[in-house]
Amino acid sequence: MTTRTRFPSRWQDGILVLGAAVVLCASNVTVAADKTSESLAVTQSRFGKTPQGQAVERYHLTNRNGMSVDIITYGARVQAIELPDKNGKIADIALGFDDVQGYIDHADTYFGATIGRYGNRIAGGQFRLDGETYQLPQNDGPNTLHGGTQGFDKAVWAASPIETDRAVGVELTHVSPDGDMGFPGELAVTLRYTLDNDNDLRIHYSAVADQDTVINLTNHTYFNLAGAGNGTILDQVAMINADRFTPVDETLIPTGELADVAGTPMDFRTPTAIGKNIHADNQQLDYAEPKQGGYDFNWVLDTRGNLDDLAVRVSDPQSGRTVEMYTTEPGVQFYTSNFLTGSFTGKGGKTYDHWGGFTLEAQHYPDTPNQPDFPSTTLEAGDKYSQTTVYKFLPE
Ligand code: BGC
Repeated sequence: MTTRTRFPSRWQDGILVLGAAVVLCASNVTVAADKTSESLAVTQSRFGKTPQGQAVERYHLTNRNGMSVDIITYGARVQAIELPDKNGKIADIALGFDDVQGYIDHADTYFGATIGRYGNRIAGGQFRLDGETYQLPQNDGPNTLHGGTQGFDKAVWAASPIETDRAVGVELTHVSPDGDMGFPGELAVTLRYTLDNDNDLRIHYSAVADQDTVINLTNHTYFNLAGAGNGTILDQVAMINADRFTPVDETLIPTGELADVAGTPMDFRTPTAIGKNIHADNQQLDYAEPKQGGYDFNWVLDTRGNLDDLAVRVSDPQSGRTVEMYTTEPGVQFYTSNFLTGSFTGKGGKTYDHWGGFTLEAQHYPDTPNQPDFPSTTLEAGDKYSQTTVYKFLPE
C-alpha cells in the first residue's frame, strides 16, 4: 500500500525528507525519492544486532541522480553504494554483507569499515611517545594492523541523521577509552558521511584526546565499478596523482624511503589499467601478495593536503562508472584485494574474486609513529584531529 504526498523538509516516521515528492510504503520505512530538483533523503532502519544484542542501524542516503549510499553503525561502515552506469543501469559497487554476522565472520576483510585508531601497520606493534613505550596487539604477523584486534571497525557507533541545505547524511560518534588496544588517552571521534546531488560522498572525521596519542583514521571500502561480485577490477583504469610511494619490507612495513614510481609498476601518473603491470616481476608486488602479486602500497600524494586537487581517479571503461578521490591526507593505500579468493558469499549471494575490488584508503603513511621523517600522526592532548575525504562518483 503506497501513498504519494508532498511535504517540506522535516522528520516523518523516521524519514528525513527535503521538500521532495516521496512514496511512503505503509509496512516498512522506505522512501522512493523522486528524480527531480532537490530530492535528497535519509532513511533509518534496523540492520540487525551483534551477538551481544546491540542494535545495529542502517542509514540510507539518496540523491536525485539515482545514487544511494548505505551506512551501518557496526564499524561506521559503508555497506552499499548504488550507482547508475552510463546507460542508467544501477549496480551496487561496494563489497559487503547483508547482515552483521557476515561482517563478524569476515572481519579481516574490513569491508567498508572506518579504521582506527591507526590505519595500516605499526611495526612490531610498538611505538614510543613522550618517553613511554606503548605495546599494541600484534594481529598481523609481528605487526599491528588497522588498530588491533578490536579496532573501530568492530564498535557499534552512536548515530544521528544530518540534513543541510545541500546534503543528507549521518553523524557517527565513538569514544575509545584510555588504553584501548594499548593506545594512550581517551579519544572521542566524530565522523560525518554526507551525500549531495553532485554525487559527492564526503567523509569528515574529527577527534580529540585527553592525552598525547597517535591517530590515523581511514575508510576501507572496496570498490568494483562493474558491480560488486562482477569479476575482477583488472580492466579498470587508475590514475594516482603521486610521483613517489613508500616501499615496504616483507612484512609490509615501510623502509622509510620515498621511492620514485617512475619505471616501476607503481607508476599510475597517467591512466593505466590496474591489471597491466600487476604480474610484473617486482619484489614489492611479491611482498604485497607472494603468490600472484598485487598492489598494497601507500602512495605519497602530490596533492599535499589540498582538497581541491584530484588525488585518485579510477574508471571502468565498460560501464562508464568512475570514482574520484579528494583528500586532506598526504597518502593513499591502494589495495587490490589480494587476499580475496571467492571463498565466501557476500551481498545478494555474490562471491568476491581475487582482485575483485580495490580500496582507496586516504591516510597518513603506515608506521609513522616509528618513522620520524614521515608527516606526523601525533595528536597532542586537547588538539583537534581533522580529515576530509571526498569520493566523487560519475556519471552524475
Ligand atoms: C592492507 C592490507 C590488508 C587489508 C585487510 C589493507 O588496508 O593494506 O595489507 O590485507 O587491508 O583487508
